[in-house]
Amino acid sequence: MKKTLIAGNWKMNKTPTESITFVKDLLERTKNYNDRDILICPPFTSLYPISTVLKNTFLFLGAQNVFYEEKGAFTGEISPLMLKDIGVDFVICGHSERRNIFGETDEIINKKIKKVVQNGINPILCIGEKLEERETGKTFEIIKKQLENCLIDFEDIEKLTIAYEPIWAIGTGKNATPQQVEEVHTFIRNWVGKKYGQNISDSIRVIYGGSVSPENIDDLMKEKDIDGVLVGGASLDIDKFSRIIDYK
Ligand code: PGA
Repeated sequence: MKKTLIAGNWKMNKTPTESITFVKDLLERTKNYNDRDILICPPFTSLYPISTVLKNTFLFLGAQNVFYEEKGAFTGEISPLMLKDIGVDFVICGHSERRNIFGETDEIINKKIKKVVQNGINPILCIGEKLEERETGKTFEIIKKQLENCLIDFEDIEKLTIAYEPIWAIGTGKNATPQQVEEVHTFIRNWVGKKYGQNISDSIRVIYGGSVSPENIDDLMKEKDIDGVLVGGASLDIDKFSRIIDYK
């Protein structure tokens, strides 16, 4: 059975010291569920210290970004080879903040997810529309274009998690309704099914991100095509994140 994925994206928050305190606390408060995986994506500086705490535990470790080359003259970048070496399991690729603030394109994201799987790490591909695109009825067109471009010549679909993150719902407190999310997830699953086959499409995880909170998690997780969540703000608070993980 496919497990759901509850992922915390800390963005540029928490020092290494704060990160260690948090994950130790989280390990105490949560348990190894049979039906869900739990993932923490801290800043780069916290990855190694956290990896030493998480070794042989049920918590997964993820990075928030990566470069698409393994080594070389790329000042300031981090490669998948380096992430693999410290036990990173997942990498978020193409988060809307990377697209909008740092100019990442679908083409760059396509290179990243390919390099990530080549190095034995699981990419989480983020896609999602802007508010004006939703309001002008372009949501499905945008999602389709992002899927087409980001998955060009990408074969290892079973390693991929797709995160639907409508930009208007990120960090705004304005979450998409479970029905709005479900209809986009169904669209994504059908698109993947056409390109890669229905069995694969049913087996990969399509997760939602955008103002997920203890208040809306239970309703979101009741939808058939929502296989988990990518949590920003609420993952920084141990009480809130533990409650989200413990969704009913
Ligand atoms: P948020 O962020 O939960 O703070 O809206 C989600 C994300 O950016 O992944």
